[in-house]
Amino acid sequence: MIFQENTPIANTFGINTQSRYFAEYKDISELQEILNSDIFKKNKFLHIGAGSNLLFLSDFNGVILHSKIQGITECRGVASNAHYADEVFLRAGAGVLWDDFVKYTVEMGFFGAENLSLIPGEVGAAAVQNIGAYGVEAKDIISAVETVEISSGETRIFTNEECRFAYRESIFKDEEKGKYIVTSVTFRLSKTPIFRLDYGNLSECPKDLPAIRETIIKIREEKLPDYKVLGNAGSFFKNPYICIAHYEGLKKHYPTLPHYPVNDEVVKIPAAWLIEQCGWKGKSLGNAAVYDKQALVIVNKGGATAQEIKALSDKIIADVKGKFHIDICPEVNFIG
Ligand code: EPU
Repeated sequence: MIFQENTPIANTFGINTQSRYFAEYKDISELQEILNSDIFKKNKFLHIGAGSNLLFLSDFNGVILHSKIQGITECRGVASNAHYADEVFLRAGAGVLWDDFVKYTVEMGFFGAENLSLIPGEVGAAAVQNIGAYGVEAKDIISAVETVEISSGETRIFTNEECRFAYRESIFKDEEKGKYIVTSVTFRLSKTPIFRLDYGNLSECPKDLPAIRETIIKIREEKLPDYKVLGNAGSFFKNPYICIAHYEGLKKHYPTLPHYPVNDEVVKIPAAWLIEQCGWKGKSLGNAAVYDKQALVIVNKGGATAQEIKALSDKIIADVKGKFHIDICPEVNFIG
């Protein structure tokens, strides 16, 4: 297995950093070969997708791995997971671009993934991160996740339940972090129409699969910056959960405070609203800025360092805490 040395690390922030070693693999046997190598065993490692959720604070003095496992194939699902009346199971390689996968499902007339159109990144990371948008999360359509255990090189399949998905969370980011590498994901989709159009003004969208994809793409293109033009990593922060008592207290001072009920005790607050109320929307700190059309997004205005982006993030966290007594946490992973 060939390791490249001192390789630029792909990332959507447009920050220039390098990795001491870098290796890609196109199948499980190549991955196992990497895991068995001296270079891998003697260095720290990080597995990346398209780098759409990462902020490298310095060069990475270890091994970066990236999956090139491709292919989308129809397969037999796990019978006990039967969910839709007329369902189809698709197995996609971890290295498939997420939006290529969504495009394929829409072209085939399979329902379930369309609300997740145009999210950057790759299939493997989508499962690890449980990506979500417009009322749907990856967990809603994931049937199983195939992995390789790093210590043994053996394959292991996690069912949806075993992945312990939660809002932007999974077992692969938590208890089993750094122990497994996702090699492919099996999705369960419906051949008969099922629409999820209750988010925002999606209810006005025609009940037609390609039209929903087009509408979502249009909304995203209007609200979210294109990272090829203005470096960014989508939502920089997660939307915080707070207890009802805290929410009721805040609502007295801020009657327009938006919220989404999570359960009887907890509500989710849009971090974008909190950040905007702190006056940060459209504002800069050095070459980093809060996007003027979506306050949850931090952009590289050009030439920003990772430290500048982190400094802006720290300032926003402190201001939201000071004004609302709410801790907001980055969704972006800081590396280094
Ligand atoms: N809002 C503001 N100011 C803004 C933007 C939004 O006050 O500048 C408030 C409004 O009240 C709005 C609410 O925030 O109704 C929600 O805004 P939006 O629908 O844009 O969604 P979000 O909560 O900011 C989340 C996801 C996005 C996803 C959208 C749509 C997280 C961290 N982010 O953002 O995901 O596309 O919902 O479903 O949950 C990503 O993770 O990278 C991402 C872009």
